[in-house]
Amino acid sequence: MNKSEIDEKIAERIQLLADKYDAMGQDMISYLDGLLHADYLKYWEYINLDSLLGLQQPKTGFPDEMVFIIYHQITELYFKLCLWEMEQIHHHEHPDEAFFMARLQRINNYFVNLCHSFNIMTEGMEKEQFLKFRMSLLPSSGFQSAQYRMIEIRATDLINLVNVNKRKEFEDYTAVDQLYDAMYWKTGATELKTEKKTLTLAQFEEKYSEVFVQLAEKSKNHNFNQLFQKHYQQGDSRELIKELRRFDYLANVEWPLAHYRTTVRYLQKSPSDIAATGGTNWQQYLPPRFQKIIFFPNLWSAQEKEEWGKKWVLDQQASNEQKLP
Ligand code: HEM
Repeated sequence: MNKSEIDEKIAERIQLLADKYDAMGQDMISYLDGLLHADYLKYWEYINLDSLLGLQQPKTGFPDEMVFIIYHQITELYFKLCLWEMEQIHHHEHPDEAFFMARLQRINNYFVNLCHSFNIMTEGMEKEQFLKFRMSLLPSSGFQSAQYRMIEIRATDLINLVNVNKRKEFEDYTAVDQLYDAMYWKTGATELKTEKKTLTLAQFEEKYSEVFVQLAEKSKNHNFNQLFQKHYQQGDSRELIKELRRFDYLANVEWPLAHYRTTVRYLQKSPSDIAATGGTNWQQYLPPRFQKIIFFPNLWSAQEKEEWGKKWVLDQQASNEQKLP
């Protein structure tokens, strides 16, 4: 590149910059001075590495607590990515199908990664250590993951998140706060006889209920289930249906099962079962076949819904049996 070519390109850029700053009534020279004095950007500064690596603060001296903390943080970052994609879709009143699909595929990719990586939890800690350090973390629980609840709220109508035994009763309810009170996770963490909430639930509600109700209002006519029914149901949306079903399956069967398997590995048969959790009867609460949370019920047959979470277990058993000599 000769000097005159360089000059020409630079002059062109300077003109573009001048136009940009003029449009905002800004003095270009001051900004060029700023550029002159600015330091070069470094990787570790850009991604805030020191802050990120300073966010792991175990409560005990058990080394495996670090694995527990970091994997929770990794999961929350993936949840943040999911919500980020959901927010992009939310900005469009009627998102173009290709745009919707692309973001949905990203969300599914995040969930695939979460499901595959869950064995970091399942196999990555010594049970003896876990059962001890977990006691120092009470009454906190992943149950209190606000982002998990936000993904659900942005994905579907509140009625689909109501406790399965109350869904019929609440079918005609439209008020967000009434439906919110019947969410499956609230019932799961409430003592049926006394109606007493676990401390884990009470503290979670105190911190987040307002945020959840606001988000539910905002998403009432604009969650994924509504978007699909309003804009794509009639068209030739087979690929979109496939991707929505995949999302439903990953978020409501595969991830809960990966999580449940882990819970069984650490908590089953332990005399301190209940004490080591946020207080739910988790054997009844966590398996997807009991909760029957389905974001897009119209996209599944009656039989598929009836067998929600069961087929996977049967498939697993069958493939294990095939592997036997
Ligand atoms: C050794 C690992 C883990 C064990 C033993 C475990 C145990 C449990 C238990 C017993 C519950 C039921 C609520 C309660 O009584 O506390 C629960 C709920 C939950 N946990 Fe975990 N958990 C583990 C790892 C994780 C991880 C890594 C995450 C990621 C953020 C997570 C997120 C959740 C969520 C979102 C719920 C609520 C599920 C729902 O409402 O359907 N858990 N966990």
